[in-house]
Amino acid sequence: MTKILRIDASTRATDSVSRKLGDTLQAQLLAKYPQASLQHRVLADAPIEHIQNITIQGFYTPAEQMTPALQDATKLSDLVIAEVTAADILIITTPMYNFSIPSSLKAWIDQLVRIGKTFSYDGSNFQGLLTGKTVYVNVAYGAPGYLNNGPFAGADFVEPYLTFLFGFLGMTDVKFISAEATTADAITVAQNIEKAEAAIKQV
Ligand SMILES: Cc1cc2nc3c(=O)[nH]c(=O)nc-3n(C[C@H](O)[C@H](O)[C@H](O)COP(=O)(O)O)c2cc1C
Repeated sequence: MTKILRIDASTRATDSVSRKLGDTLQAQLLAKYPQASLQHRVLADAPIEHIQNITIQGFYTPAEQMTPALQDATKLSDLVIAEVTAADILIITTPMYNFSIPSSLKAWIDQLVRIGKTFSYDGSNFQGLLTGKTVYVNVAYGAPGYLNNGPFAGADFVEPYLTFLFGFLGMTDVKFISAEATTADAITVAQNIEKAEAAIKQV
């Protein structure tokens, strides 16, 4: 059975363009895989804790030396990793905030990226351990000019970052279906959402 994991990073519960695109994509994937299970994390509703000193200690402690305190400090990371490991398909919906991803999504990533669990390092090479997955990312950009090599493409630290990050973890099949100029006039916004939804239909 196909397992879908969806992560929403917009702080907005209503009017979120990234979530709207994610809804369309989710409906399409569920129509394609009617037996699929869906797990949905809304980061604004249940924020992921930032990693702390003891979390990092736990990340670097061999399994046989883990104390109850270290196990407790890494249990959220264990859960986040288990959810991604189990998934065949990931849907990530995110706004651009200050040219990058929201800190809520970065907190989730900081719990996910973990030596020996989601990547390995042999002293000279890194290897991603989360292979065989497809990742769809819906980004909402307030301004125009980021997509299709636009004049603002160099200021987009969302798509290049997520492409590299997921690739680092072994997820090389990453597809972006995004909308920009979401803070423009209503007609432009509607047209840009429509364009992104048409691209989702091609998935
Ligand atoms: C805190 C904050 C920072 C933002 N930073 C940027 C930015 O750097 N560039 C940009 O084009 N839009 C920026 N925006 C606009 C959002 O990207 C835009 O409103 C987007 O549609 C938000 O995603 P959502 O519709 O899914 O909530 C920002 C919005 C907020 C609230």
